[in-house]
Amino acid sequence: MLSELSISKWLKAEKVVVFTGAGISAESGIPTFRDQGGLWDQYRPEELANEEAFRSRPDFVWQWYQWRRSLIRQAEPNEAHIALVEMEHMKPEFTLISQNVDGFHKLAGSQKLLELHGNIQLDKCIDCQQPYEQSTEGLEEPPLCRECGGLIRPGVVWFGENLSPKVMALSAQAVSNCDFFITIGTSAIVQPAASLIYMAKQNGAYIIEINPNISAAEDIVDDFIRDTATVGTSYLLELLEDNSLDRHI
Ligand code: OAD
Repeated sequence: MLSELSISKWLKAEKVVVFTGAGISAESGIPTFRDQGGLWDQYRPEELANEEAFRSRPDFVWQWYQWRRSLIRQAEPNEAHIALVEMEHMKPEFTLISQNVDGFHKLAGSQKLLELHGNIQLDKCIDCQQPYEQSTEGLEEPPLCRECGGLIRPGVVWFGENLSPKVMALSAQAVSNCDFFITIGTSAIVQPAASLIYMAKQNGAYIIEINPNISAAEDIVDDFIRDTATVGTSYLLELLEDNSLDRHI
């Protein structure tokens, strides 16, 4: 699936960054955003994924997030999430940066994980930003903050909002230091997240992509696996396992 050069770079790589998008959870049954039938194919982000929309129609937006949360609660991490946990144990430095809010990487057991867009299962106050610790499962409308009376909202990053400066800084640090970068299941068009791929390129990392379709990163990746996340990550893992066996024979 990969060229000889890519395989050799992968086996030798010591500082690895993996960057994931919605496509890695597609095989868990979670819809992506921009594929046919994806969330942004059926719904308008302007009506759902920004603060103004939430303030003007809180129940409507809340219920959409409740629906997404219930989909995620009924699903589970797939082989690709699990393969990344294994890889983390096999490389000296390994950082996983995800745009996903489903929490599946954490659930699978990834340790060095940076969630750029937050986590959909966490809630916080829209005004004072205090985390809301009580369960909101089954609620049809957003509760109110106990501190300030503000609306409780899902703990995800909406359009027009800044990413956590700390998470972004840690991501940039890992990317600027890595020698091998793998982008998996992302259309690579949402900024500033997608800029990490370009940062990796500028810093001289070798870049591969796992995606059954062409993404916006196509021109800058060094090689790609045009297949699904589970197939691509199992293949990368097998290469590592075979290599460590060879070394022991
Ligand atoms: P997109 O929906 O934009 O892209 C999903 C990508 O996954 C596409 O390139 C698909 O080809 C690919 N894909 C589909 N099935 C796959 C599979 N089985 N294995 C591997 N790849 C597959 O999702 P993202 O790039 O993650 O923002 O979108 C980025 C951001 O846009 C999201 O984080 C979200 C959204 O608005 C926020 O929530 C802030």
